[in-house]
Amino acid sequence: MATCLYDEEAGYFAAGPLRSVAAGDFLTSPEVSPWFGRLVGRFALEEFRRLGRPAGFRIVDVGAGSGSLVRSLGEVVGADLAVHAVEASAAARARLVEVLGAGRVHRDLAALGSGFVGVVVANELLDNLPVAIAVRVPGGWEERWVGHDGDGFHLVAAPCRPEVAAWCERYAGVVPAGGIVEVQLAATAWLKDVLARLDRGALVVVDYGGTAVELAPRRLTGTLRTYRGHHLGPDPLTAPGETDITVDVDFGALATVAEEAGAHVELVTQAAFLEGLGLLDEIERLRRRERELAAAGEAMARLVVRDEVTNAETLLHPRGLGDFRVLVVRR
Ligand SMILES: C[S@@+](CC[C@H](N)C(=O)[O-])C[C@H]1O[C@@H](n2cnc3c(N)ncnc32)[C@H](O)[C@@H]1O
Repeated sequence: MATCLYDEEAGYFAAGPLRSVAAGDFLTSPEVSPWFGRLVGRFALEEFRRLGRPAGFRIVDVGAGSGSLVRSLGEVVGADLAVHAVEASAAARARLVEVLGAGRVHRDLAALGSGFVGVVVANELLDNLPVAIAVRVPGGWEERWVGHDGDGFHLVAAPCRPEVAAWCERYAGVVPAGGIVEVQLAATAWLKDVLARLDRGALVVVDYGGTAVELAPRRLTGTLRTYRGHHLGPDPLTAPGETDITVDVDFGALATVAEEAGAHVELVTQAAFLEGLGLLDEIERLRRRERELAAAGEAMARLVVRDEVTNAETLLHPRGLGDFRVLVVRR
C-alpha cells in the first residue's frame, strides 16, 4: 500500500495527475462544496477565540490535495490567520503553492514543529495510510502479506508480527474466526505524532469508518478496496499504482489514542459537525435567495444558487458524506 500509493516515481499519489478532483477518481467534501472549507474556517475561528487569540496561531491542512479546502477556508479566516498545507504528493504541492505561496506548503508533519498552537485538519487522509491485514485464527492472529509467484501478486498467509497482534487485541474488538482486520498502525502513529506537537488547539480528522462495533459487520470481507473513476475499482493487487487503495478508518482506535494522550475527544458524524457550525442556516439562506431570483425572473442566477444548495446538501447526505465521521481532539 505504501509503495502503490506513495512511491516517488510510480505511486498513485506521488506521480502524475491530481486525484481528488472531478476529473480524477474520487470527490471529497471540499471538492463537492465550498461550504465544507468555510465551516472548517468557522470552526478554526471559534478555536482562535476559545484560546484567547494567541499569537502564532496557525491552521494546517494535512493531505491538502488540490487545495480546495484551504481556498474556501481562507474566505472565512481572511488574512489574519496563517493557513498552511502539508502534502506528500509533489503534484499536489505544486498546486498548493499557487494557492498559499511557497513558504506555507510543506512536505511532512515536521513543519508543525513542537509547541504547535492552532488547528490541524485532515480530510480523507487517514484512510490512505498503509495498513497491515490480520486474520483471526484459533488462538490468535495471522497476517496476509503480498507475495509474487512469477504470475502476479497474491495475498499469502504469514505469521503475525507482535505489534500487529497487539494492535488487534487492543483495538479490534470481538472478531469471529476468519474475520479480517485492517491494522492501522500508521494512522495511530500519525495521530500520536500530531498530538506530541499540539500544545493548544484542535485536531479535526474527517473520514469514512467507525468504531470497532460499527466496523464489526464488515470484518467478514474486510474493508480494503480501491476507487477508480468515482466507482469501486479492481482488487488492490491487480493495478498497483493506478488505483486509490483505501480502508475504513478505525475511529475507536484513534479516539482511544487521543484520550490516552490526555486530550479531550468528540466523535460525531459529518452531518452533525457541519450542522453544529450552521450549515442548515446557510442552506436556508440560499433557498430564500433562490426564491427571490426566481421571482425576479433571473433564471441563470437562480440555477447557480440551486447548484450551490444541492452541493451543500450533499455534504449532509445520511448515506454518503453526511455519515462520514469527524473526530475532534482538543487541548
Ligand atoms: C484522498 S486525498 C484527500 C485530499 C484532500 N484532503 C481533500 O479532501 O480533497 C489524500 C491526500 O493525502 C496526501 N497524503 C497521503 N499521505 C500523506 C502524509 N503522510 N502526509 C501528507 N499528505 C499525505 C495524498 O498525497 C493526497 O493528496
